[in-house]
Amino acid sequence: MHGVARHSLAPIRPTVPDVRGEKGLQLNEHTLSMRLERVAAHVPAGARLADIGSDHGYLPVALMRRGAIAAAVAGEVAMTPFHAAERTVRENDLDQRITVRLANGLAAIEPGDGITAISICGMGGETIRDILDSGKAHLNGQERLILQPNGGEQPLRQWLMENDYRILCEELLRENRFDYEIIVAERAGPVEYTAEELYFGPLQMQARSAVFLAKWQRILREKQKTLSNFARARQAVPEEKMQEIARQARWITELLA
Ligand SMILES: C[S@@+](CC[C@H](N)C(=O)[O-])C[C@H]1O[C@@H](n2cnc3c(N)ncnc32)[C@H](O)[C@@H]1O
Repeated sequence: MHGVARHSLAPIRPTVPDVRGEKGLQLNEHTLSMRLERVAAHVPAGARLADIGSDHGYLPVALMRRGAIAAAVAGEVAMTPFHAAERTVRENDLDQRITVRLANGLAAIEPGDGITAISICGMGGETIRDILDSGKAHLNGQERLILQPNGGEQPLRQWLMENDYRILCEELLRENRFDYEIIVAERAGPVEYTAEELYFGPLQMQARSAVFLAKWQRILREKQKTLSNFARARQAVPEEKMQEIARQARWITELLA
């Protein structure tokens, strides 16, 4: 059977819904989660894709099966998902088109691959930032980055800005009670985002979608709860931490006003 889910590797969020999606669908290289389906939509037609942290390799295999990409590298740092990706590629007879490499981050990319798009999905934003930062030598600056962080979006956007990447598209979707962000960026020269834009996402702030506003309403309630817990706390909470959360609560209140 294709794509039998492994339960041993805990994702960073409680569940990245790749095992059973909404309506109990079995998710695999044939049926992607809504999250990976939206990531797939941002991969340019005919791309040579490097999917870093590919796990079971569902994204590159699904795209290749649809004829949407020309070639792919599936990179994995851990042995079990590396073997899972190898199996998915082999079972779909795609060994000639998709190379699975055991490598840390962007080290999976070799100069001859001619990569034009890189996806890094289902990890914390800080982890994605660290993968990009430590792998800079493997970037030629022409690749489209399609990033799907699970939290830590602010430090990831900060890295993009500091490295001359402009955010071309941002998406927010809610699946299985989790909010997922997708950030698409390309290197385009110096770009400046305000602190609020780095926090909320510059394009999401403009679009103000219903799902975006609902997410920040939820986060505001959490921040307010944290602040009132701080106020009741017996031990002193570091002033800096309190100020940081108070500032974020103020930003969110202004955003929602
Ligand atoms: C939660 S899974 C997400 C899989 C898939 N990208 C998705 O979005 O469904 C994260 C995967 O990233 C891999 N990973 C984490 N850090 C990595 C790194 N530095 N280089 C390559 N893979 C990494 C893990 O081994 C794991 O298989």
